[in-house]
Parts: sequence; C-alpha cells; structure tokens
Amino acid sequence: MSGNVRPESLERIVTEEQALVFIDDQVKELQQQIGGGKVLLALSGGVDSSVVAALLIKAIGKQLTCVHVNHGLLRKGEPEQVIEVFRNQMDANLIYVDAVDRFLDKLANVTDPEQKRKIIGKEFIDVFAEEAEKLDGIKFLGQGTIYPDILESDGVKAHHNVGGLPENLQFELVEPVKFLYKDEVRVVGKALGLPDNMVYRQPFPGPGLGVRCVGAITRDRLDALREADAIVREEIGKLEKKPWQYFAIIPDMQSTGIKDGKRYMGWSVVIRAINTVDAVTAEAVVLPWETLRTIRDRVIAEVPGVNRVLWDMSDKPVSTIEWE
Ligand code: XMP
Repeated sequence: MSGNVRPESLERIVTEEQALVFIDDQVKELQQQIGGGKVLLALSGGVDSSVVAALLIKAIGKQLTCVHVNHGLLRKGEPEQVIEVFRNQMDANLIYVDAVDRFLDKLANVTDPEQKRKIIGKEFIDVFAEEAEKLDGIKFLGQGTIYPDILESDGVKAHHNVGGLPENLQFELVEPVKFLYKDEVRVVGKALGLPDNMVYRQPFPGPGLGVRCVGAITRDRLDALREADAIVREEIGKLEKKPWQYFAIIPDMQSTGIKDGKRYMGWSVVIRAINTVDAVTAEAVVLPWETLRTIRDRVIAEVPGVNRVLWDMSDKPVSTIEWE
C-alpha cells in the first residue's frame, strides 16, 4: 500500500473474517513488493511488530530475518516468548541479541529520564545496525508503523522515541499495517494465530522498564521491578474489568523494614493502574482491596529486597502515567 492516507476501499476490520481477507490481500501485496528480496525486521514482541512479522512469515517465509534485541528492560518472560513463538512455532529466521550488559553499562549512573531515553534509543539503533551490517543482500526494512503513528507524527511515540538508521543502511520500507488502527491490528494478530498475551498487550513504552526503575538503573532494583511488575500484572489482570494500563514502578529510595526482630533497609514497589482514552489525561483506577492485598503479600514474599508496597492514586494531570 502506498501513500499516507488510508484508502477508502479499506473497510474497518472488526471480525475474524474481515481480518482473513486483509491477511490474504496483504500476503499477495507483500509478495509482489518484495519478490525474491530479503527483509529485515526489528521484532520487539509488541503487537505491531509481531503482527508485521507474522504477516511477512506467511508471505515470504525465510526471506525475512527478524532481530530481537534484548536490552534488559523488557518485562518478565518477553524475550523467551519472542523466541518461542517466532523461532520455535513459526520457524522464522530470528536473530536473538543479548545486549543486556551493553545497555545497562551505558545506563549506569544516568539519572535524567530524557538522557536515559536517548541512550536506550541510540543504543538500540546501534545494536540493530550492527546486526544489519552482518547480513548480506537485505533490500527491505519491515516496520510496525500503524495509522495513528502517521496521523500523530507529534504523538507520544514520536515525541519520546527518537532515532533512525544511519545513512549507509537505508532500505525500502515494508509497512503492511500502516493503515490500521490498534484495535484492527489486534484482530489481525488474533486471526494470524498469535497468542492472546501478545495480541492484547497493554501499551509499553519503548524504553521499557528503564523509565519505571526510577533514577539510576541498578541490576538489583531492575530485577526486583521485573518480578514485582509480573505480579502486579498477573493479579490486576484477573479483574473482570481491566484498567487500560497497569504496572509497577520502583522508586530510587529505601525505607525501614523489620524481619525476625531486626531492622533493615529495603526497596518500595509502587502499583499504578489508570484508565484513559488517549493517554493525554488519565484517571487512577480504584482497585479492589483484595487485589491490592494479594499484590502486597505476594510482592513482599516473592521479591527479594522489597519491604514496602505503595499505591499511586494520582490522576494525569498533574501526574504523568509513567514516573519518568
Ligand atoms: P505519560 O507518562 O507521558 O505517558 O503520561 C503517556 C503514554 O505514553 C507511554 N509512554 C511512552 N511510550 N516511549 C513510548 O513509546 C516512551 O518513551 C514513553 N513514555 C511514556 C506511556 O506508557 C503511556 O501509555
């Protein structure tokens, strides 16, 4: 599909049947655009890049190479799931790059949130470009651009996530979902057989847990955050009416705890759950006490180093959804 305006002939994709028609059309279009060429795709495991990967695998199979960069700031189980779904189940060419040390070394002692974002963005491009340079004959770059990205070129993603590939690595773009809204991408993802927890994932910032591990990121605090976040998402995810976004934060502070009669300093974990329409304003969700209590008990029992659990009851404005 060319141009940047959604074609009138593209009806809204709501049902599985409509998704299957879209998939068929896209597979044909992709085969026509790509021919015998090779495509490279940065696969984060988010819904947009995952749907693009699944479409490309269907259309061109092993002519696609996916690169998954583990920067150490992903949520619990995410890198493993990317490998399981795309390499093991879909038999894709998947390059897994363990860049955890590289990112965390660069981020050591950096406290300014925008500086953290810049480092993560730049490092990501560098790692991806290095992988791209190792490959021969790549002509196309797959991208999970969706319609709101085009409409809101000054939206959240564009505002926060900077960077592009260097001059010597310019490819022809392949953007099969660029005219779809998020809900349509999810319907297509479901029809492509992607797992529900990939398709219905809540929004997750590009810099990942990096902006939820407040202040200078340390490995111990980051590990604690990842564990606590998994518990928060699991427990809040059991509610019948799930909030729009819910996650954990770990502030850069310690407070006193007491265990076996001995006082010690430990981390606090913050629970954040909000509802919003467009992320421009947001309202803290009133969580049931049983859910809060279960999260508190599990985090204290299961996450080493944490001795206090707090609940962020702030609305946006004035409090942004993320802490940084
Ligand atoms: P804030 O914190 O600005 O967040 O109220 C609004 C929405 O944007 C997400 N967010 C980001 N998304 N890169 C992204 O792709 C980022 O750096 C980033 N920072 C915040 C946030 O999760 C929320 O949904």
